[in-house]
Amino acid sequence: MSIRIQLLKLKLRLVHFLYGFITQHKPMLFTGKDASIQLCENISHFGHKRVLIVTDAILVELGILDKIKQSLKDNGIEVFIYDGVLPNPTYAMVEEGVLIFNANNCDTILAVGGGSPIDTAKAIILAECNPEKKAIELAGGYKSKRRPKPIFAIPTTAGTGSEVTLAAVISHPETHEKMPLADHRTLPLATAIDAELMQGMPPHVTAATGIDALTHAVESYISTGTNKFADQYSRAAIKMIFEFLPRAYKDGSDLKAREAMGFAAFYAGYAFTQTLLGYVHGIAHQFGGLYGTPHGFANALVLPHILDYSIVEAGPQFAELAIVCGMGKEGEPEGELARTFVDRVYALRREVGIPDTLEALQEKDIEKIAKAALKEAHTAYLVPRFMDKKTCEGIIRKLLPQEENTTSETAKQKTAEIA
Ligand SMILES: [Fe+2]
Repeated sequence: MSIRIQLLKLKLRLVHFLYGFITQHKPMLFTGKDASIQLCENISHFGHKRVLIVTDAILVELGILDKIKQSLKDNGIEVFIYDGVLPNPTYAMVEEGVLIFNANNCDTILAVGGGSPIDTAKAIILAECNPEKKAIELAGGYKSKRRPKPIFAIPTTAGTGSEVTLAAVISHPETHEKMPLADHRTLPLATAIDAELMQGMPPHVTAATGIDALTHAVESYISTGTNKFADQYSRAAIKMIFEFLPRAYKDGSDLKAREAMGFAAFYAGYAFTQTLLGYVHGIAHQFGGLYGTPHGFANALVLPHILDYSIVEAGPQFAELAIVCGMGKEGEPEGELARTFVDRVYALRREVGIPDTLEALQEKDIEKIAKAALKEAHTAYLVPRFMDKKTCEGIIRKLLPQEENTTSETAKQKTAEIA
């Protein structure tokens, strides 16, 4: 092992050691029929009177918010709405949300939607208590000297786990560079897994968000900074995703599968918020920033390739997961079990309609993407097998659309060199 990698590992161990001192609460969780309504009733019990719902315009149009708004009003709460959140939200959206929050003298936020509205809500509540700063100045870790007001979250997708994590991924409004913020005080106070709200999620969103949750759980499980407590949640999430994601993808009204996926996303989020992530997210975040690729879809493209690369070091963990998921039995050769698990990730991805390539990806961007991905990963992620820029470029190159792949002889050669 080179001295450079040893120093990198040492630095990351220190980062994880310090990160371990952050006390993270787990949000109160409402489940079962009308879980979101139970949550709304409890927002009034927490003493709130003026709620800003942070969401996206599609959910408003679909009427997903109707019951939620009514329940809040029935409990004596005034409701205001910011529905300007788009995928890959920016700090400009955070500023818009703060204006509405302040103009209506709100005392809490209820985020309703996927990861984007929940992340935006975390950033709004932090920006609201730091009026002397621009929202973008809160990017990074713990930039607020003040404790933000509490927030609540109702996820309508099963993937990001943002309802149970301390981070929010927000982009620069012009460059679209991802500039996450992290602060455990933005963790929602309570959340709800309400399967009925997830019924309308289209199959491609179900697939992408479900593989996002799988990525969280697997990256957490193979991180060398993981712990036995987080591992229990990761194993449960992975087992549930293999069982229930194909069901939820094929039949959106399968409430048992929807609820199981809601729990799986929650468990995976709870695991990775303790252990952090890996190269899949490092690369996927760059696709989101550069091309606007939806986060879960970007992860789904990258995940099996990183597992292939990691199998040399993470084989024992993959073998354990194969047994947990019923893909093999105790006593079978570890190498075979590990290979089976990675192959089943490829198969699951195909089963839920994820393609092999990224249409937007261009050869000219690969070096830049690899550089940024490694910068992110080598700042915080204790991955089982480290890689250099050339190897990362080769992995990204595997996602080039077919025509780019066949016309770029140099690229093919480069990929062959690292294969
Ligand atoms: Fe993710």
